[in-house]
Amino acid sequence: MPIRLCGKNKTTTPKRETTECPDNLCVYMAQAGYLLDGLFYVTISAGDINLESIGIMSTPKLELRNVSKTFHANGMVVRALENISLAVTPGEFLTVIGPSGSGKSTLFNLITGLLEPDSGEILLDGVVDVVRAGHFGYMPQRDLLLPWRSVLDNVIIPLELRGIPRTDARTRARQMLPMFGLEDFADSYPASLSGGMRQRAALLRTILTERDTLLLDEPFGALDALTRRELQDWLLGLWEQFRQTVVFITHDVEEALYLGDRVAVLSPRPGRVANMLAVDLPRPRRRGMIALPQFGRQMSELLESLGVEV
Ligand SMILES: Nc1ncnc2c1ncn2[C@@H]1O[C@H](COP(=O)(O)OP(=O)(O)OP(=O)(O)O)[C@@H](O)[C@H]1O
Ligand SMILES: [Mg+2]
Repeated sequence: MPIRLCGKNKTTTPKRETTECPDNLCVYMAQAGYLLDGLFYVTISAGDINLESIGIMSTPKLELRNVSKTFHANGMVVRALENISLAVTPGEFLTVIGPSGSGKSTLFNLITGLLEPDSGEILLDGVVDVVRAGHFGYMPQRDLLLPWRSVLDNVIIPLELRGIPRTDARTRARQMLPMFGLEDFADSYPASLSGGMRQRAALLRTILTERDTLLLDEPFGALDALTRRELQDWLLGLWEQFRQTVVFITHDVEEALYLGDRVAVLSPRPGRVANMLAVDLPRPRRRGMIALPQFGRQMSELLESLGVEV
């Protein structure tokens, strides 16, 4: 597959192009890569990550090719998504931003197979026409904890659905509670939890699906700024440990930049990919990076692609 190499963030003006991965490239850090029109784009900066370790030479975990979706409801025709093409590499953290109604949640409903596209293809591990249900850990936009079940019994639902006996499921989930800061709340009911704790419980439930791809729809949307930051760092720590492939929807441009390897910007409805920014920030992310000049520059680029004057 041809690989196009780009300077820091200059995805439109590649410095050189090659048809194979040269050996000496492996001493550089590639922040992220993505497929477009059959070319693999990768942003290079100084560092020491092997390209294979970020999946550059492998098949995308998830790929959408020219996916469109229109809804017909109550006599109305709503064109939600139009010609969406994107690929997510294994272990990548892709964030998605876009105005309300631009089809972000619809994108997840299509990926998980809850909806079918009108046209286009969705590939999992390079395979088209595969049954998509059950391949993802999906956290929908609302946390959807069951009010009549305790925290522990909420988070074991994916295990129970897989036929694991409840006592075994509880034992397994209980071991994970400390990592999610919920060890003292196993027997509490959702109504007695704070917003942040509810989100952490919903995330734990998503992670207990034990899928290697997580689709998180505004998981921190309803939280105050402080709790949100805490959970962002906590999620990054978790991702650095387990390296699942993550697609993360948010309204918050700063959050998208701080978390993501790349940020996909959707246009107003019908949602199209208006920009795909390869984030120029090292890993692991640290709060102080928000003060870096390149953070501000990339924030401006993202806001501009959202049509916000900066
Ligand atoms: N099942 C459905 N039936 C009819 N219309 C739908 C359906 N699901 C979504 N839509 C419409 O498709 C458009 C995109 O909705 P979607 O929920 O994907 O947007 P979103 O980008 O997630 O918005 P938000 O940021 O507010 O969550 C909206 O106009 C919505 O009304
Ligand atoms: Mg939504």
